[in-house]
Amino acid sequence: MEIFDPRVQHDFVNGIVEGKDVKISKKYYRDAKHFYLNPDASLADDTLMYQVYSYSEGNSEQVGNLNWGLTVLKPVSVNQECNMTRGHFHENLDCAEFYFGLGGEGLLLMMKEDGTCFAEKVFLNSLHHIDGSVAHRLINTGNEDLKVGACWPTIAGHDYERIEKHPFGARVFKKDDELVIEEDK
Ligand code: F6R
Ligand code: MN
Repeated sequence: MEIFDPRVQHDFVNGIVEGKDVKISKKYYRDAKHFYLNPDASLADDTLMYQVYSYSEGNSEQVGNLNWGLTVLKPVSVNQECNMTRGHFHENLDCAEFYFGLGGEGLLLMMKEDGTCFAEKVFLNSLHHIDGSVAHRLINTGNEDLKVGACWPTIAGHDYERIEKHPFGARVFKKDDELVIEEDK
């Protein structure tokens, strides 16, 4: 029997996924400013808001194959609104996802298809099952990087347009070090 080195390493403590086929995507403020209620003109366009590591093997159209991911969300605020991911529904609403907290503090904001919003607290070792039909967005409510791992089917896809047409009905701000949640009426 041959014994191989793993093709990928996930440094859970430092929040890095390394390996030949690992993809890294970075989201800068210039491409994120429209997420926020009041964009901040004083924030530089090249401010790094979050980065996503992702890894998969084999045919991504093969039912049953999985993606592995890590999101590192910076502790930036935009006119007091906490930094967050763009957020999405999966294109394939049968595809659930696991998220797990690896560092920092935040919220996993979720929205059902009928628009009902709810959230779970995210912290080191928290584990979150996201139903396939539920939109999801991470929010960094702390003062350090929020690091969150993920595992989801390669056939899930991302439907961002649906969120742009029907945005999450809740926003999270930090004012005088207190979290303030503003919900649509
Ligand atoms: C994959 C998934 C995560 C997010 C990542 C960035 O289905 O949920 O890997 O893609 O947290 O968030 P978005 O994609 O909303 O910018
Ligand atoms: Mn997802």
